[in-house]
Amino acid sequence: KPVYVLNGPNLNLLGTREPEIYGSQTLDDIRDSLVEAANGRAIEFRQTNGEGELVTWVQEASRSASALIINAGAYTHTSVALHDALRACTVPIIEVHLSNPAAREAFRLTNYVAPTATATIAGLGARGYHFALEAAIKMTA
Ligand code: DQA
Repeated sequence: KPVYVLNGPNLNLLGTREPEIYGSQTLDDIRDSLVEAANGRAIEFRQTNGEGELVTWVQEASRSASALIINAGAYTHTSVALHDALRACTVPIIEVHLSNPAAREAFRLTNYVAPTATATIAGLGARGYHFALEAAIKMTA
């Protein structure tokens, strides 16, 4: 089964969006480097700005993925619906953030994803996705 890598709102703007915070790589760059690093293992890499679509994809991942890597963007801090979907998800979950939300504004301290995840990787930029993939592959080997 593929490793699902799900990305939430505004992550389609990576590269031009606040590069001093989020880096200069685009989401396509991150996907391409992950696919390369995956060494033939299947990766299902997606982005959506929609909360409902993200919930639907988490439900799909529970059925169809070996593990779920998720950067939920701002829904991390707001979405009980996403939290509930992740709670219901039966495959390992690894949360990723490019920045370290704990070192930023107070409104980013609320996190509905972290309590559902096996691990959180934050503040390491795009490399965080690679660490998450390595962990996901080892956890499901
Ligand atoms: C983010 C951090 C969130 O607080 C923010 O809303 C994002 C990106 C990150 O990857 O650093 O959209 O998830």
